[in-house]
Amino acid sequence: MILADPQFGMAVHLQKKHEGATEPPGIGVAVAPPGTPDSGWPYETARLERAIAIANDLKPEFVVVLGDMVMNWNNRQQGADLLAAFEKLSPEIPVHYVPGNHDVGVDFLAATDESLAAYREKFGADRFTFVAGPCRYVAFNSALFDQPQSVPHEHDMQFEWLEEELARPLPEGVSQTVAFAHHPPFIKDIDEEYGVYNLPQPGRQRLADLLIRNGVRYVFTGHTHANVLSRYKELRVIATSAIGISRNGHASGYRLVRATPDSISHSFYVLPKD
Ligand SMILES: [Fe+2]
Repeated sequence: MILADPQFGMAVHLQKKHEGATEPPGIGVAVAPPGTPDSGWPYETARLERAIAIANDLKPEFVVVLGDMVMNWNNRQQGADLLAAFEKLSPEIPVHYVPGNHDVGVDFLAATDESLAAYREKFGADRFTFVAGPCRYVAFNSALFDQPQSVPHEHDMQFEWLEEELARPLPEGVSQTVAFAHHPPFIKDIDEEYGVYNLPQPGRQRLADLLIRNGVRYVFTGHTHANVLSRYKELRVIATSAIGISRNGHASGYRLVRATPDSISHSFYVLPKD
């Protein structure tokens, strides 16, 4: 079960940003839900708790959160409350956290040594692999591809790690590797312009080539706060909308993935607003 962008604290942030506006400024722009208070994150908490209740009913093999657990990487309360919400997830269901730009970016974008240390203390490793059913999953910190300028050593270490992990032979009974990250490498076309919702070149192409070369056919992401499906050669990019605030005009919800030895299928489910 994939959850993306619960992003505790986003509503308050948007309310301040669009202060006085009663209508969304345009399609595709995120706005605070009506009744957003001046502090706290009751909206996002309720949304996540609802998704967790669904997970407890569905009993997926695991839950993965594809980044932007919180709005502000250095807001301790947001992180603590997010983790507290996950205490309500059945202990039989493992949960994996993948970092988003808001979890590690000091300006919502660029990671630093300090922000990475804070992330790792709160949520654990920002890159990891695990096996579940017929798949090996490789999760990495895509913010290091997006804005590596403050921590180029972290970017390089991660890229080497990715090369090594992806080159490892699949364990017995495992038929493919699936990637998890926050940013989609691209949202429409591998050669598209760099913007808010994709990764810059040349790293985008280098990453896509590395994944394809090692037989990765699916990369699941968040970040777009809207559902986006794209493809380059054999690599499919599947960005899942937000559990928290989706962009105006887009559904909000979660994705279920079914993996068999021969196939991957996935569907998005709307999380009702009330
Ligand atoms: Fe986000």
